Parts: sequence; structure tokens; C-alpha cells
Amino acid sequence: MKRSPLAQTQFLSAHDVATIVSHLGAAAALSRMADYIREDFLRWQEFDKCARVASHSAGGVIELMPISDAKTYAFKYVNGHPKNTQVGLPTVMAFGVLADVATGVPELLSELTLTTALRTAAMSALAARALARPNSRVMALIGNGAQSEFQALAFHHLLGIAEIRLFDTDHGATEKLLRNLAHTAIRLIPCQNVAQAVRGADIVTTVTADKTNATILTPELIEPGMHINGVGGDCPGKTELHPDVLRGASVFVEYEPQTRIEGDLQHLPADFAVTELWQVLKGQATGRTHDAQVTLFDSVGFALEDYSALRFMRDAAAQLGIGQRLALIPELANPKDLFSLIRPASKPAPRAAHATALAASAVPELALSA
Ligand SMILES: NC(=O)c1ccc[n+]([C@@H]2O[C@H](COP(=O)([O-])OP(=O)(O)OC[C@H]3O[C@@H](n4cnc5c(N)ncnc54)[C@H](O)[C@@H]3O)[C@@H](O)[C@H]2O)c1
Repeated sequence: MKRSPLAQTQFLSAHDVATIVSHLGAAAALSRMADYIREDFLRWQEFDKCARVASHSAGGVIELMPISDAKTYAFKYVNGHPKNTQVGLPTVMAFGVLADVATGVPELLSELTLTTALRTAAMSALAARALARPNSRVMALIGNGAQSEFQALAFHHLLGIAEIRLFDTDHGATEKLLRNLAHTAIRLIPCQNVAQAVRGADIVTTVTADKTNATILTPELIEPGMHINGVGGDCPGKTELHPDVLRGASVFVEYEPQTRIEGDLQHLPADFAVTELWQVLKGQATGRTHDAQVTLFDSVGFALEDYSALRFMRDAAAQLGIGQRLALIPELANPKDLFSLIRPASKPAPRAAHATALAASAVPELALSA
């Protein structure tokens, strides 16, 4: 029996995505990822959007992030558990799907843990390209965990950031970053505290993980002209910035209804003015108006970025011949005869004990096939 090509699912493992990024190189991967995101943000109105569905628990959150246009549906499953690293697990883990809107066939199932780090960094750089002073060369990077190297590389390659001041409450995290990026041309400067890292920086990126309303940045640390890229405040009760930092800045967001709930914006009244970034990218709203203006991207991560990231990975995988076919949807000679999957193959009817064994053997392969 031949499987209908319409019901095939492509699978990209974490190893596949790592192979794609290694082939392309981090600079090209981040740059192309940013292009895909930009392309999709420019057709913002074509998407059916909603705030993600979050399931909160004492230690973290599990979220589902759906979005679709007329042709393609996407969702991401992602968690955020800041204490996970203490038990040897990443804080953020994710996977996602691209599906055909016309038939509902899940066309791609992909890892999104590594991909999320790339897409978040590409999104941050895309926002900074529109909002930061064009001659920005120095960035403070507060929080040196799993996402941090990707942020550093995106700002280096996409914005020309040459010097990055590092701070993390865990010195081991900063040492890891220093080791990982030692081969690059970025001047990396470990700092003793947030104030030392931030002083004189053109851009400040906060990418910490702590399930609390932290105040990593307070108003006295903010200098005229700074661009703040707030990445780690992305959940109710999990923020990074003193509310007065937002009050003193022009604030830009991905999808306003979601950021009002999840971003650092959650501490401000509902009528506090913000601008959705797509409007700036499209030329429908003003970004930075003068050199002394403080701009702030209150990033929480929006489903459209994952739609773009999945699209990018699917295209890159196809170009490089990477990935596997996954037998996720059953093969059916008659699509109305789902029962055929478990119907005993031969007569006379087997005894009950045999029936179970025969039914199991009639289930088609569920493992990966190349
Ligand atoms: N906005 C987005 O699109 C997006 C996407 C992915 C992840 N995130 C968020 O980014 C954050 C970082 O994710 P990660 O995967 O790198 O987590 P991680 O746990 O690997 O790293 C976080 C780092 O922050 C440090 N930290 C915690 N509190 C600190 C403080 N007060 N000062 C300085 N450093 C501090 C920790 O020591 C740790 O090294 C998380 O909060 C995550 O939810 C946001």
C-alpha cells in the first residue's frame, strides 16, 4: 500500500537543526531567520492571532502558541521552568508543528528548543535594528544562560555590536559564555554587577530567568539614548524591569494583548501607550525619533516568530537534504476504514489472548523511517 504524499510529515530533530545551523554558520542562520520573521511581520494582517494559552504551576509555565494564515497553521509547545537547570534540564524546551490549512495534515514536526534561541535572538536584533541608535557598538548582556550566546551573536552580526559586557549572578554561566564565544571577534568583558555592565552601553539586553518580579534594571541605570531589549520578563509574576524604566521609555511590543498580560508591561495601567513592532517595520509608526530617546522592546515571544522559524527551518532542511519522514498519520487504503489498523488479519477469529498480539502486529510502523 502506498502512503499518500499528502499525509506525510517531515521530522527535524535537535540534531538535524544543529546540523542545519552548522552548515549555514551562525551569522547566516540568524540573518536568514531575521529575514523570515520580518517578511511575516510585514503581512501581519493576514494572520489569525491570539495570546498564547498558558498553564501555570508553582515552578513554571507550559504554553501553547497557535497562529495561522490562509495556507499554513503553526503551533509551538514551550515551557519556562527557571529552576530546571538545578536538576540538569534546560529552563526552556520546545517543539512545534506546521500544518496545511486546507487539509489539516501536519507537514512538519520540529524541535524548537535550539530554534527558539535563534528566533528570539533574531527577533531582538530585528527590533534593535529598527529602534536602537544606528551607531550602537556596546551592549550589556545581563543573564548568561542558554539564550545568551545567540543574543550576543545576533547583535554582533546583525547590528555590528563589537563589545559586550557580561553579568550573571552565576559566574559559571558567564565563564561558559566566555568559552563559547572566545573564537569570535566580539570583545567580551565580564562585569561585577549590573551597574558596571550597563554604564555607557548603547544597548542593554536582559535575558535572566527567575520566577519573580525582579528589578534587574532600575531608572538610575538608564542613560539617554539607550535601547533596552527585555527578553526574560515573559510571564505573569516573572519580570525584569522596574516599572519606571518603562515609564521613561518609548515601549514597543510584539502582540499587544499578549504583552499586556506577560511582559514587563503587566505592571503598567491598560492605557499606557505602546507600539506594536510590525507597524514600525511597515513604516506605519515611528520608531526612534531622536538620539536621546530611550527605546524599549518588551519581548515575550510571539507565535508568529515561531511560524517564521519553522518555515525557515523547513526551507533550509529541504535545501540541505536534512530530516526524516515520520509515520505520524496512519496509512489507510479507505480513509473511512480506520478500524482496518486494528482488524485481525486472518480467519478463523483468534482467541482473545491472540487477538491482542495480532492487533499489535497490524499497527503500521510508528518509528521514524528514512
Ligand atoms: N522573549 C522571548 O521570546 C523569550 C524566548 C526564550 C526565552 N525567554 C526567557 O529568557 C530567559 C532566559 O532563558 P534561558 O533559556 O537563557 O534561561 P537559563 O536558565 O539558561 O539562563 C538564565 C540565566 O539568568 C541568570 N539570572 C537569574 N537571575 C539573575 C539576576 N537577578 N541577575 C543576573 N542574572 C540572573 C541565571 O543565573 C541564568 O544563568 C528566561 O526567562 C526565558 O523565559 C524569552
